[in-house]
Amino acid sequence: MLQRMRILGIETSCDETSAAVVRSGHEVQSCVISSSKHDFVSLGGVIPEDAARKQLESILPVIELALKKASITCDQLDAIAVTYGPGLLGSLLVGTSTARVLAALWKKPLLAVHHTLGHLCSTWLASSDVQFPVLTLSVSGGHSDLWYRTSHTSGIRVGTTRDDAAGEAFDKGAVLLGLPYPGGPALSKLAASGDETAYEFPNPLSHDKKPDFSFSGLKTSLKYLLRDLSDKALEDKARTDIAASYQFAICRHLGSRVTLALDMYPDTKELHIVGGVSANTRLRTMATEIGARSNVVVRWPSSLAYCTDNAAMIASAAYFQHAEKKSEQSGFRTLATSSLEALLHPTKTE
Ligand code: KG4
Ligand code: ZN
Repeated sequence: MLQRMRILGIETSCDETSAAVVRSGHEVQSCVISSSKHDFVSLGGVIPEDAARKQLESILPVIELALKKASITCDQLDAIAVTYGPGLLGSLLVGTSTARVLAALWKKPLLAVHHTLGHLCSTWLASSDVQFPVLTLSVSGGHSDLWYRTSHTSGIRVGTTRDDAAGEAFDKGAVLLGLPYPGGPALSKLAASGDETAYEFPNPLSHDKKPDFSFSGLKTSLKYLLRDLSDKALEDKARTDIAASYQFAICRHLGSRVTLALDMYPDTKELHIVGGVSANTRLRTMATEIGARSNVVVRWPSSLAYCTDNAAMIASAAYFQHAEKKSEQSGFRTLATSSLEALLHPTKTE
């Protein structure tokens, strides 16, 4: 039964409404994502109340479509999984309330999943041959963490950000460069044709032996660079070069912390990058180089849709959370509990 367990995942933590049907934690039978990001382009960011209203409009059609695409009815589901946090409260309430009602109506177990554990499981989608220990760089708009993992849902957080998240560094940099929301994809598109060696940015925490992150200094450097250049009309060439140099500085910082963590955990077999920023091609190239140097397999989510928020990763996380409950008895700390603890009370893990 567990082997073939089919879970309906629901993810509504921000401005994506997503539902997916995933079998055995790996096999995606459908994944529907409806995003309200385009509504916020002219506003430069998400308005929480509007995002929640959009969630309410989309949630039932999205779930219906996910079942239809998977060619199943609700009777064929074994469980429902939903993101319970962190995220925008109004958006989360739409997902959790819907999941509760459906679980009661359809008489299915309801599994609650931490959003971060979802991202950490996004590399299992379409790959079942992963070897542990795995070092995972989890980089999104809300967090930047490094996890050393001994099973799908067990591990310890070995590094985290001391200020902004990596996605925020991209988004705030994009705002300074006058690029539209969401900034990460726009900045990386502009950077593609630029010279990343044209401008020098600081290399944060380069003498710090803990693999933590810090992005606020990079953002401040960009701000001052643009202020100093503001007298001259900023030519397109300079803008692309600045975008490329800034992107390089973010990726170099991420890469240097990964290298440090790999030195700390030399038994690591695989390096995974997950979260919205794992869509970045410059970061992927850098991770591939690091993997080759350190002799570890490098993976990122098999589709761009699984890098940013999606329900398939939530269904996958729920499956392994459920399946590996047994392994708690063998002494592993489950990520589901320890990460929540760590995320709510970061100092307790130091
Ligand atoms: O995981 P995600 O969809 O949502 C959160 O949980 O935060 O990540 C969104 C973040 C945003 O900051 C976005 O700008 C960034 O991921 N992002 C990128 C790229 N695509 C998305 N950053 C850099 N390059 C990209 N190609
Ligand atoms: Zn996310």
